[in-house]
Amino acid sequence: MDMKTLLGSRKISRQGLARRMLGIGTAVLLGSLAAGCDSGDKKGLTVGFSQIGSESGWRAAETKLARQGAEQRGITLKFSDAQQRQENQIKAVRSFIAQGVDAILLAPVVSSGWDEVLGEAKAANIPVILLDRQIDTPNVDLYLTAVTSDTIEEGRVAGRWLAGKVQGRDCRIVEIQGTVGASLVANRKKGFEEAIATAPNLHLVRTQSGEFTRAKGKEVMEGFLKAEAPGSICAVYSHNDDMMIGAIQAIKEAGLKPGTDILTVSIDGVPDIFKAMADGDANATVELAPDMAPRAYDILLAYRKDHAPPPKWVQTPSKLYEPDTAAAEYARRKDLY
Ligand code: AHR
Repeated sequence: MDMKTLLGSRKISRQGLARRMLGIGTAVLLGSLAAGCDSGDKKGLTVGFSQIGSESGWRAAETKLARQGAEQRGITLKFSDAQQRQENQIKAVRSFIAQGVDAILLAPVVSSGWDEVLGEAKAANIPVILLDRQIDTPNVDLYLTAVTSDTIEEGRVAGRWLAGKVQGRDCRIVEIQGTVGASLVANRKKGFEEAIATAPNLHLVRTQSGEFTRAKGKEVMEGFLKAEAPGSICAVYSHNDDMMIGAIQAIKEAGLKPGTDILTVSIDGVPDIFKAMADGDANATVELAPDMAPRAYDILLAYRKDHAPPPKWVQTPSKLYEPDTAAAEYARRKDLY
């Protein structure tokens, strides 16, 4: 309503108008102040996400669900792909701080070297949520929470499955590890070794990094097959499904039958491993939930509303899948990823 309308239509005195304008101004000011501290996030949040890269099907699914989840919640997502490099992630976090985002999601490629940049985010009052990997720091106040699986337990689940599968039979195992320096790689190894230590018939004979990629997983498995006497490898444990898909290819090319001549157990639960299980080429996978970002958004929204800090670690499940449900799981997941 303009001044002419106010004066003309309602015959208000100039003093009355001044009082009314003052009232309106105060209401607008109070309203916008309330919106500023509004925990209901009516203005919509802006979140920066520093993602590691796109090394695996699981990682691609995490990115897809991060975008979808943001859209569903009216969150503006600023996404940065670090191409596997920590320095790119540090740059991205600094740029998010400079842009004044409301929160930062960080999937840390390696576990060490984060204190300084996370200190900068903390000084700027921007909460950081870690996704799918933990960091090494003496100061856990540098982040709000970490949404990850129990990565030691994932290794244990895989090792227990293998011990049960081979029963008392002697079994020489090869291991394809993920990216060197990532928190979960040491953990997936530790958990697996713990579980097979209870079975004296299981022997881990070779281990090497396949960098979480299909191509590298294949290359590493080819090396194992050449280094070991033909037919002497009983099982392969891979820190993710993509490297296992590469290893399966290598096993086939060596004239052996994956899933029968060489047992397989890996981690992630991507559609292709369910397809391989349904085809009889793989034996087991431990699922890693890909919806880490949507979980983080909900934690963030709840935190902004009630200001109660979430637990320092929000654990996602680690469920084992075998071929009996593989065809159904493949059908259920193939378009989700
Ligand atoms: O941090 C999660 C791991 O990273 C997944 O298991 C692997 O596929 C990914 O690249």
